[in-house]
Amino acid sequence: MAAIAAPRLLRAVPIVVLCSLLLHSTQHVLAFKEHEFKKCAQTSFCSRNRNVPQGANFEIIPASISLNTATLTATLLNKPYGKHLQLTLTSHADGFVRLMVDESPSVGRYQVPSDILISGWENKKQGFTENSRTASSITLTTGETKLELNFQPFTLAITVKGQPALQINSRNLFNFEHRRQKQDSDPAGYWEESWGGHTDSKPKGPEALSLDLVFPGFQHVYGIPERATSLSLRATNGAAPYGEPYRLYNLDVFEYLDDHPFGLYGSIPMMLAHKKGLTLGVLWLNSAEMFVDVVKERGQVGSQWVAESGIVDLFVFTAGSPAGVLAAYARLAGPSAMPQLFSLGYHQCRWNYKDEADVKAVDAGFDTHDIPYDVLWLDIEHTNGKRYLTWDSSLFPSPAPMQLDLASRGRRMVTIVDPHVKRDPGYYVFAEAEAAGHYVKNKYNTDFDGWCWPGSSSYLDVTSPAVRQWWAQQFTLDRYSGSTPHLYIWNDMNEPSVFNGPEITMPKDNLHAGGVEHRDTHNLYGVYYHMATAEGLQLRGQQADPQDGDRPFVLSRAFFTGTQRVGPIWTGDNAAQWSHLRVSVPMVLSLGLAGLPNVGADVGGFFGNPDAELLTRWYQLGAYYPFFRGHAHLETQRREPWLFGPEATARIRAAIRTRYSLLPYIYTLFRAANTSGQPILRPLWFEFPEHEELFAVDEEFLAGPAMLVKPVVAPGVGQVEVTLPGGARWYDAATGALVPPAAKTKSHRVQVTLDAIPVYYRGGHIVPRRERPRRSTAAQAADPLTLVVALDEQGGAEGELYMDDGRSFAFQRGGYLHRRFVFRSMKLVSSAQQVPAGGVPEGTLTLPVSIERVVFLGLPPSRRGYKAVVGGSRQAVPLEAGPLSLVAAPGAEAALVLRKPDLPVSHDWEVEIVAV
Ligand code: GLC
Repeated sequence: MAAIAAPRLLRAVPIVVLCSLLLHSTQHVLAFKEHEFKKCAQTSFCSRNRNVPQGANFEIIPASISLNTATLTATLLNKPYGKHLQLTLTSHADGFVRLMVDESPSVGRYQVPSDILISGWENKKQGFTENSRTASSITLTTGETKLELNFQPFTLAITVKGQPALQINSRNLFNFEHRRQKQDSDPAGYWEESWGGHTDSKPKGPEALSLDLVFPGFQHVYGIPERATSLSLRATNGAAPYGEPYRLYNLDVFEYLDDHPFGLYGSIPMMLAHKKGLTLGVLWLNSAEMFVDVVKERGQVGSQWVAESGIVDLFVFTAGSPAGVLAAYARLAGPSAMPQLFSLGYHQCRWNYKDEADVKAVDAGFDTHDIPYDVLWLDIEHTNGKRYLTWDSSLFPSPAPMQLDLASRGRRMVTIVDPHVKRDPGYYVFAEAEAAGHYVKNKYNTDFDGWCWPGSSSYLDVTSPAVRQWWAQQFTLDRYSGSTPHLYIWNDMNEPSVFNGPEITMPKDNLHAGGVEHRDTHNLYGVYYHMATAEGLQLRGQQADPQDGDRPFVLSRAFFTGTQRVGPIWTGDNAAQWSHLRVSVPMVLSLGLAGLPNVGADVGGFFGNPDAELLTRWYQLGAYYPFFRGHAHLETQRREPWLFGPEATARIRAAIRTRYSLLPYIYTLFRAANTSGQPILRPLWFEFPEHEELFAVDEEFLAGPAMLVKPVVAPGVGQVEVTLPGGARWYDAATGALVPPAAKTKSHRVQVTLDAIPVYYRGGHIVPRRERPRRSTAAQAADPLTLVVALDEQGGAEGELYMDDGRSFAFQRGGYLHRRFVFRSMKLVSSAQQVPAGGVPEGTLTLPVSIERVVFLGLPPSRRGYKAVVGGSRQAVPLEAGPLSLVAAPGAEAALVLRKPDLPVSHDWEVEIVAV
């Protein structure tokens, strides 16, 4: 955030005034300073392209077409200017086609570097078949995708599995501004643009691009994070509700609003369109500022994407299903990193835990109140004057013993490290980076000087691989003084945030390695900084354990395509308001649909003070966020989970324990994200893609395929409406009771108390849990498991369990265990999960973990009950009534439980259920 006022005020104002100021500032109404940020109309490249038909000027020259197996090339002519562009269309075996347009001959326009994607993807091509060619068009097929390229004007229509999927330039909004010489007649804004007291010198002149993408027959599009809006993106044409396109430009937006098209801290130019029978994905790999209009008319969605610079590099994901689109995206951009298990526990953060005594007291508070947690965080005040990688020695005289003390109870610490470097020649990081020329330059090619937390700062040029390598080396134990192997990192302000810069970021005419303008690469700064920091922790891990290393944990605020391979992000500076609690759901879901599943929002809200009810509801939802952290602004009242009275403490404890009980399931979901890009939290339509009535639902979600969660997002609520998709069975996760099944999706009025939010198991799924309350993930390591077997209409269920050491990279060499559980014909069978093609086969990891309970939901009534025969033994054990969970409050007991079967998790086994 950019609230520089607060900490500096603290030093300058007398105490009485200060008290009233603090009171005022913590109760203030949110104030998004809209005037600090540009809109489309105030931005030359956007206003000269938005809704301006130019595409009819672009024509394919038929004689230029050349088709070579999986690549078609053609010359695209910009008629009024007589300018040639090169169009390249390639087909890839991994479920996507790629359209590139660049100037011909090349003028060296910026292209996103290849390390943003994974290596080797380009080699897996799939040939085109030419179906027809006339003087005005050519038709190609590849797999189940058909492409029709029309020449005059240039349009491209894509059909997937026989269904119209995408039309490019059908509304004539395509444009490609070529490089040119400056003319006196050039309109204002072409070569220079001023705004908010800053002048952008624009040395390359106009070079914007406009893409016109229509999704025929689709009513819903999703993705293009990050912003606080609904999941199904609303139209941006006309006045209501926004009248302004969605913006993709990583910015530190102070006090953002809960419903606004404005772009926040990160950008992923990935959109999903979904209709019955077809899901399509598009990614425009371009890191410049971008505006996206969504237009809904004539029963379909149109979109216009305008970028300030770069080239057209559009990937169209044609697998057809939601899961298929994200799997294909993962084969291009890489899947989500496998996190350390500890990082899926609860994180306690605040700006700031003041000193070592404070750290000790907060840590002890969790144990005193029997609340599990894994990580304690230190914000910027822990440093020596905002010199990152140093400590304030009066507040933190013994950082290493402090971390070792936490580690003795299985806990970790995280410190914040931001990309601005205090310009102090006595600060080793500054001096070394300066001497090596590692900083971003201003337009005069001297080190850029911007204002951030430490005051005058330089910014590491992390777009350079050499700078990243140097930065990574700063995290080894000998370099980062006071660090231990139990310390992990938080990267903030990496949009980058520059308090005195245009729109609180860097001037666009700043220069990066190789003379690249900041304009071209702005949205990559954050992911590169995140990447370099994570490489640092990886290096540290390799030094300790050259064979298996230590998986990095680095949280970032800014992001782009590729961030999923690096680590989690959070949704930045939200507020302690019900509306922010609510919007966190579509925000998290949108990120997952854009291939970035490991995300969360600050639990409790960053600005302002939540009351006990809001805080409780936030923990109840947060327990399902992939990344689960409580955090608060410097000026807020303390809000550790036990400070709101015994009842609230008990409820928050229950919420956090629920999270810990679900970790075997959540970790297994993370493995699916790691192998095939599947989101952890999913919109209902993702799992029920044919149910049109679910396409806009974003007040509830599925955690993986098997659990449905309905957060309570308003105060004083005694009942909520829960939408349960039809055709599936749903069991109340608190009681095990079956909701009366319905063929059609129905809204159910459900009573709620403050104790919990409604959660359901989905029939047909098996969920592994760990029920014993512990103080951290480390303390759970040897705990036995419970399997919840929720039956579908046919009396069947399936599920998975993935386990490994939770820490190292040994899983990449086969050091993991992946079981598949199937319950069918009254038999529960555990066998090894099939390894996907190209995957590393499971090694011989055996874990001393057993299954201590199997809970059956939905067994048909049997007058004299059931017994279980565990394979191999002749002995039958009766199933007993409930409880469903040992952690949640006991409720009505609709579950039948097999107690103490002691089934080893590492082995194959069978259990037969027989009516007595
Ligand atoms: C930014 C971060 C916030 C952090 C603060 C101080 O506002 O978003 O989480 O506490 O900076 O570092």
